[in-house]
Amino acid sequence: MALRSLLVSAASLLSLASTTPLEPRAPVPFSNFNDNTVFVPASNYTSWRTIYARTLQLADNSPIISWEDYDPVPGPQQYFLIYKSDDGGATWYNFTQQKLGSYPAGTILLSGVSTPSDLSQAYIELYASTDNAKTWKFVSHIAYGAGPETVTNGNKAVWEPFFYVYNGQLICYYSDQRDSAHAQKLVTVTTKDLKTWSSPVNAVAQPNYGDRPGMATVAFIKSTGKYIMTFEYCGGPDASGCPAYYKVASSPLGFGSVDPQPVISNDSSKLIPNGSPYVVWTPNPGATDGSGVIIMNGNSREEVFVNDDSAGVNGWKAVNVGQWSAYSRSLRIINSGGKSKLLLANGGNMGCNPCTNNFVAVGVVDIPT
Ligand SMILES: *[C@@H]1O[C@H](CO)[C@@H](O)[C@H](O)[C@H]1NC(C)=O
Ligand SMILES: *[C@@H]1O[C@H](CO)[C@@H](O)[C@H](O)[C@H]1NC(C)=O
Ligand SMILES: *[C@@H]1O[C@H](CO)[C@@H](O)[C@H](O)[C@H]1NC(C)=O
Repeated sequence: MALRSLLVSAASLLSLASTTPLEPRAPVPFSNFNDNTVFVPASNYTSWRTIYARTLQLADNSPIISWEDYDPVPGPQQYFLIYKSDDGGATWYNFTQQKLGSYPAGTILLSGVSTPSDLSQAYIELYASTDNAKTWKFVSHIAYGAGPETVTNGNKAVWEPFFYVYNGQLICYYSDQRDSAHAQKLVTVTTKDLKTWSSPVNAVAQPNYGDRPGMATVAFIKSTGKYIMTFEYCGGPDASGCPAYYKVASSPLGFGSVDPQPVISNDSSKLIPNGSPYVVWTPNPGATDGSGVIIMNGNSREEVFVNDDSAGVNGWKAVNVGQWSAYSRSLRIINSGGKSKLLLANGGNMGCNPCTNNFVAVGVVDIPT
């Protein structure tokens, strides 16, 4: 009896003292699953705690993940956390937490905004790793905003870099508040050596000053040879919010002359993915003619929105893949146990104040069609 009550009280003490929720059992390796926790920040994390998750699959097929990480260390962000999975995303471990700037340059690229805690100015920075994301080195400043780094119109802020490699050059898309003719616009810059960058060229710059297109991502539609960009369109023709829009162009540098079109589901519910969209393309697993499927998602909906390669404005079909929504939920096609799957990566949500619930979670599902 004494032994039994000792065991019981030891178990209650353990769960009381635990700062993280009870861990559900990890998914089966290389299976499909949703809402699988990767990282829960300590309770003293600040701002959004975690948000804006990004993934990559290494040459040996292991996925890695990073995110905006608001640890409570004062001053500028000191590092990016990088977690890795060796079993198709079922379990993850802390792969590295490097101080940036003291390692040789290489082939895996990482970009983010660097800003002091008073948000007085900002750089979009480029870092590189030559050893499969284990160590990282600062390479170059891609853009500079004289600040303040806030979304107030007129403040010289820069945000939200996205990379695409094209014709021997690296393209960086980013959101730009520095042009006095546009509250915010989307621009492209290019580099051939990762060190020197071209001047910005407009990709989405709307005539109405108050429009704020932002958060560009781009995918190549292999069967048509065209490129699709999704972005959020704040302050645009729709009365409120930041609905997702897209453009299709024959070059990833040619979006500037194309008119934006909205993403709205083609069923009677007319769902709109609002805010922080993300787009990928992949061959259709059921097709033999090389055709594929465009997959995008936005913050306000858990569904992904799929389209065929023509990217027609009436071709967006909402598909429930069972994964929580998130701010800038990222999409990536991975090889999981020899099969193509869709990896969804959540950081958390904005709009929470105080933010006490954000953490990092992933899902792996069959390619939605
Ligand atoms: C935040 O909490 C963690 C875990 O409890 C602790 O190790 C760390 O020192 C704390 N950091 C600060 C700056 O308070
Ligand atoms: C991750 O691992 C590094 C060593 O590579 C360590 O310094 C760091 O504290 C770890 N971070 C977390 C959040 O566990
Ligand atoms: C919606 O778009 C898909 C293509 O993604 C198409 O197959 C389907 O027929 C469309 N549905 C309607 C109701 O138009």
